[in-house]
Amino acid sequence: MQRILVVDDAELNRELLRNILDDEYIIEMAEDGEQALDKFWEYQDDLGAVLLDLHMPNMDGFAVITELKEEGWLKKIPVLIISTELAAEVESQCLELGVADFIRKPFVSSIVRNRVRNTIELFDSKKHLEQTIEEQKKALKKRDRIIQMQAEKLQEAEPFNRLMMEYSSAIMEVETRLRVLNEEFSLEYNRNPFESIKSRLKSPASIYEKLARKGCPVTVESIRENLKDVAGLRVICSFPDDIYHLAELLVKQDNITLLGKKDYIKSPKSNGYRSLHLILNVPIFLSNEKKYMKVEVQFRTIAMDFWASLEHKLKYKKDIDNTEEIVGQLKACADSIGALDYQMQEIRDKIDSSRENEPKRK
Ligand code: GTP
Ligand code: MG
Repeated sequence: MQRILVVDDAELNRELLRNILDDEYIIEMAEDGEQALDKFWEYQDDLGAVLLDLHMPNMDGFAVITELKEEGWLKKIPVLIISTELAAEVESQCLELGVADFIRKPFVSSIVRNRVRNTIELFDSKKHLEQTIEEQKKALKKRDRIIQMQAEKLQEAEPFNRLMMEYSSAIMEVETRLRVLNEEFSLEYNRNPFESIKSRLKSPASIYEKLARKGCPVTVESIRENLKDVAGLRVICSFPDDIYHLAELLVKQDNITLLGKKDYIKSPKSNGYRSLHLILNVPIFLSNEKKYMKVEVQFRTIAMDFWASLEHKLKYKKDIDNTEEIVGQLKACADSIGALDYQMQEIRDKIDSSRENEPKRK
């Protein structure tokens, strides 16, 4: 049986509440605020709820709530105010302080029982949830530490460093081919199909984490076999059709094979994410051999990139309030950005075609 503390200066009220509740709970009583706090410190964690009158001699209910709040107890143990009609401002003041609920006088047994039971259940499930989250956080921290240690081990191995050198060469290979196309376009058509290129090698910790998640062994062969995004490039273009044009030119080149493609521009993800992803097999030329390496290339517009970096923050930030609202706003922004990119492209086409029609100057 859980323990409940009933605090009221009127003996009649205390006895009424005891009669209503004592078949379900162990009842402790206090006649004023000071006694209430004494009992509270005596039982603390062992209390399921406190039923508290506001107007009492010595120390009133407000002083008790304030003290409990300062000590952080109002989040752990529900306090229900016993009251006759309260002025709205008093009631809202109580709620703001963190009071869980109100029980009105005169007492109606079924209402008192249900209020107390529901409030205790709510707090119990909240406590349980918080405990679960705390345990998960600890487990995650432990996992992160293990990953970090394994990743450090991986880094010590000579073949791993060689593999990383090869992936980094593959990034250079693709980046050079893209830059050559950009130079050519700039000279021939006076425009650049992309604005910038970013590249990254997956960190040893992420490599380890991803292999573990996929249930794959942590070896150099397994990395080569099972991971497609150790070498990654992000190509930021101004317009959607530049993305497709550039991707097509790249895939057509000698020695490059397209292993996979995900077109999140034609079919955006449910969160609104838009980008074109290619997995390429690219040759690198070493001192005495030619090797093929997998490279992930993501193409997106400037606006899509702006969106993706903000959305990425959401994934890694914990304890964000209003997540649902943010997800909805992000989706709406992604849709606007998608439409805007095509509108900008139309405008560019109009400008370009009117230029073509201009009479040539002598
Ligand atoms: P990963 O295991 O995350 O690599 O996913 P995947 O192998 O299923 O490939 P996918 O092509 O879906 O995603 C590859 C990469 O694209 C991710 O690692 C991210 O960098 C990026 N990406 C994919 N989806 C999203 C998204 O919803 N938001 C953001 N910001 N980036 C995304
Ligand atoms: Mg990835």
